[in-house]
Amino acid sequence: MSSAPTPASETDRWTVQRILEWTAGFLKQKGVESPRLEAELLLAFARKCPRIRLYTDFTEPLSDEQRAVMRELVQRRAKREPLAYLVGTREFYGRSFEVGPGVLIPRPETETLIDVCLERIPSDTASHVVEVGFGSGCISITLARQRPQCHVTATDISSTAMSIASRNVDRHAVKDRVVLMQGDCLEPLLNSGMRFDGLVSNPPYIREDERDSLQPEVAMHEPAEALFAGTDGLDVVRRLIQQAPGILKPGAFLALELDPSQCAEVTTLVSAAGFTTARVHRDLAGLDRIVEATFQG
Ligand SMILES: C[S@@+](CC[C@H](N)C(=O)[O-])C[C@H]1O[C@@H](n2cnc3c(N)ncnc32)[C@H](O)[C@@H]1O
Repeated sequence: MSSAPTPASETDRWTVQRILEWTAGFLKQKGVESPRLEAELLLAFARKCPRIRLYTDFTEPLSDEQRAVMRELVQRRAKREPLAYLVGTREFYGRSFEVGPGVLIPRPETETLIDVCLERIPSDTASHVVEVGFGSGCISITLARQRPQCHVTATDISSTAMSIASRNVDRHAVKDRVVLMQGDCLEPLLNSGMRFDGLVSNPPYIREDERDSLQPEVAMHEPAEALFAGTDGLDVVRRLIQQAPGILKPGAFLALELDPSQCAEVTTLVSAAGFTTARVHRDLAGLDRIVEATFQG
């Protein structure tokens, strides 16, 4: 390992315990949150074993290959590359999704968006939902897996998202019920004549002037088009709300993830666009996060 503590002598062995302690200390110096947990996740990835196994292997030495893999992972993580990009997956709603540079890493608050949608999607009858901004595909795929009668059509402007989400659709065996389209907002669907039972989106919603206050993992590594949406963060949301009546059935639901500061304004916007019973849901941290409404038709 370079530019960091080294073993007292060359004859000291890099055991699992030792490398964990060293890595946690190094990542802490570099400003990484939860350095011990991340050290364990990286080492489990390098050793191709479950994290829990590290504890039974505490005194085992690492092979040369494992040390080489770990060295590179730690150096990249110290440069604040997100852990999920390094290991290539992230858990969302109890399932593992492929992620990589070019798609947003699924966030825990988006699980609240799923819960809101599941309340509105019947489990015993067919329905058709549309998602805008599928990214890794985590929302569309989770809805399809949780509601076996639900079909989802989803759009994203990013070609990288298209590649990664397609692989996640295969990984979770929902190819027959999740259709991905590359395009801008709802444009690919506006002249299709299709009408949907619900519209869900976790759109880009960060204000341009917040760029400097973001964690390096986000600002330097996650795709800008997944994060930023103009001076008030609502550029994409406004277009979505304006286009939505053209593709929704009367009684369809709308569920949008937002920044807590935007929920009140978006509630007003959706009411003005023909939606009723707009309500705000809080995420697990207790913050206003989701606006849910019903299209009057
Ligand atoms: C915040 S990310 C959400 C990704 C994923 N749905 C999730 O929740 O993890 C927003 C996504 O919207 C996409 N996006 C941005 N502008 C868009 C637009 N005008 N039309 C369609 N997709 C857009 C981005 O490429 C990105 O994948």
